[in-house]
Amino acid sequence: MTVEQTSSAQTLNFQAEVKQLLHLMIHSLYSNREIFLRELVSNASDACDKLRFEALENGGLFEDDAELKIRVSFDKAARTLTVADNGIGMNRDEVVTNLGTIAKSGTKEFFGRLTGDQKKDAHLIGQFGVGFYSAFIVADKVTVRTRRAGLAAAEGVKWECAMTGDTAGEYSVEAIDKASRGTEITLHLREDQDDLLATWKLRSIIQKYSDHILQPVVMKKESWDEEKKAQVLTDEDETVNKANALWARAKSEISEEEYAEFYKHVGHDYEAPLAWTHSKAEGRHEYTQLLYVPGHAPFDMWDRQARHGVKLYVRRVFIMDDAEKLMPLYLRFVRGVVDSNDLPLNVSREILQESKDIDLLRAGCTKKVLGMLEDLAENQKDKFATFWKEFGKVLKEGVGEDHSNKEKIAGLLRFASTQADTAEETVSLADYIGRMKDGQDKIYYVTADSFNAARNSPHLEIFRKKGIEVLLLSDRVDEWVVGNLSEFDGKPLASVAKGGLDLGKLEDEAEKAAVEKESGELKDLLDKMKGSLGDKVKEVRVTHRLTDSPACLVADEHDMGMNLARLMKAAGQTMPMSKPILEINPAHPVVLRLKYEDKQFDEWAAVLFDQALLAEGGTLDDPASFVKRINQLMLAMNAG
Ligand SMILES: Nc1ncnc2c1ncn2[C@@H]1O[C@H](COP(=O)(O)OP(=O)(O)OP(=O)(O)O)[C@@H](O)[C@H]1O
Ligand SMILES: [Mg+2]
Repeated sequence: MTVEQTSSAQTLNFQAEVKQLLHLMIHSLYSNREIFLRELVSNASDACDKLRFEALENGGLFEDDAELKIRVSFDKAARTLTVADNGIGMNRDEVVTNLGTIAKSGTKEFFGRLTGDQKKDAHLIGQFGVGFYSAFIVADKVTVRTRRAGLAAAEGVKWECAMTGDTAGEYSVEAIDKASRGTEITLHLREDQDDLLATWKLRSIIQKYSDHILQPVVMKKESWDEEKKAQVLTDEDETVNKANALWARAKSEISEEEYAEFYKHVGHDYEAPLAWTHSKAEGRHEYTQLLYVPGHAPFDMWDRQARHGVKLYVRRVFIMDDAEKLMPLYLRFVRGVVDSNDLPLNVSREILQESKDIDLLRAGCTKKVLGMLEDLAENQKDKFATFWKEFGKVLKEGVGEDHSNKEKIAGLLRFASTQADTAEETVSLADYIGRMKDGQDKIYYVTADSFNAARNSPHLEIFRKKGIEVLLLSDRVDEWVVGNLSEFDGKPLASVAKGGLDLGKLEDEAEKAAVEKESGELKDLLDKMKGSLGDKVKEVRVTHRLTDSPACLVADEHDMGMNLARLMKAAGQTMPMSKPILEINPAHPVVLRLKYEDKQFDEWAAVLFDQALLAEGGTLDDPASFVKRINQLMLAMNAG
């Protein structure tokens, strides 16, 4: 990566993604330029939190300067703006990694989704976040001077990058002496940015975006100079933000905007949250929780190692980011803060792993989040629909993961169904039960690997004919849901593709009698087909679940459903494949014809089996033979 190296200064290339991001950002975020300050202050605050945490084990890191703060200053003559903190700082390697690459998870997905359409990309970049690099929206040159806490003054590092127009390809790093620990970021402003060189302007931006930052953000005070007839900077500091823990304040004193801005900081998000819950738990364990549901899924939602989650504080001191311990996995999209009054300050990761207190915290937070979601579902249906679209698949995991809240989670689930017959997931189990037919005692569903396969499944024919609603499940995780949810509100869930068709009271006696009669009449045919198909099927029997199709496959009552079996196989799990049952439609012309077929009986039987497998979403073992047989039969029919 090295391009040029002098005694201590080194010029390095940015990672390709950084170049792309810089270019994109300057163009798409320009109209929202003020956010650069929020980003830099937010980073400075994170750096202070990190120092405080590391100092729990090594008090020496404070170097006699334990008052963490963030300073914003400017120099009108030099046209520079500086954000400085006395937080953790960075060593040389950290500078190169953090300010030369994009290390965050979801980066690949982000770049993969860019379209080149400025509007769309601007929206995406808003979701991805640009952090430090946003400095270049207002600056054409940025200088960072930093020293990691605990290192010698001589181990300071200077990082610098100047842009030409809207592009930058390289930056320099150099060893410097830096007496105070922490990071100082100086922006050399672009030509048209002079309005930022004013106390009132900076103050108003800080108050707008960074009021909730825990550390004080200080600026030099201004006072009126009679001689100069102007405001001049004094040596006195003043704190510009509220600098107290937002979550510790009374709910009634916090505005919606404050909640939203705080979310953007803790959630590392650019967009407003969808909903939040803020409460204090009292009693045996005292803690405050402020938990948010984001407005959109993060790029790394499927990365179970994702870093930003719920932050743990103990009596206002940041302890750690640890989504997994404070939130169950199926709520991993939740962001926010939990502040405990009881845990010891020097709580370590190891202690947390074992701590019963953390289990209680997690149970309490989980209840709150589920309660908030129930409230959305009940009272803010649009928001709930957004939530479902973004996070429904993750929440579904909870049915199997969290037994104590299973019924609650199941109540929040939404499905597609034959009622609307669209892929949109809007039907709750309670809606379904409310629409059940007289005499219906089960919740019927079908699973398949796509919505269309589910919707057109032959197993639905009788249900459609009788007007019985069936849930159409086509997410992978749906198999997990139905595998873990055997009933809801006392009503069992039943797959329409498993076991004998049992419509209970929905079936009339005449139909049952007809099936029995036909089974008797067709006994020879059924035996002959079983003989012809041999090991491929467990049984061949008559059904009246079909109205249009000649045949379908079902799994035996206690066998694994065929869709699930395929998913497991695709995931590399080997297991004994249970054989399906072939059911035939006694009224279908093909079946009727088969009664009199002799010469090509085996071909017909094989084709019926294969097409039933295809219709059900399966794949053929030997597609070429299937095609050959079809052609043969077509030719034979032509000839006959
Ligand atoms: N003032 C600072 N002190 C110490 N480290 C810093 C500072 N500013 C940035 N960094 C380091 O640089 C990294 C990149 O910062 P950047 O703001 O781009 O991303 P981030 O804060 O991790 O995520 P986000 O996109 O949510 O801001 C940080 O993760 C941090 O390690
Ligand atoms: Mg940041």
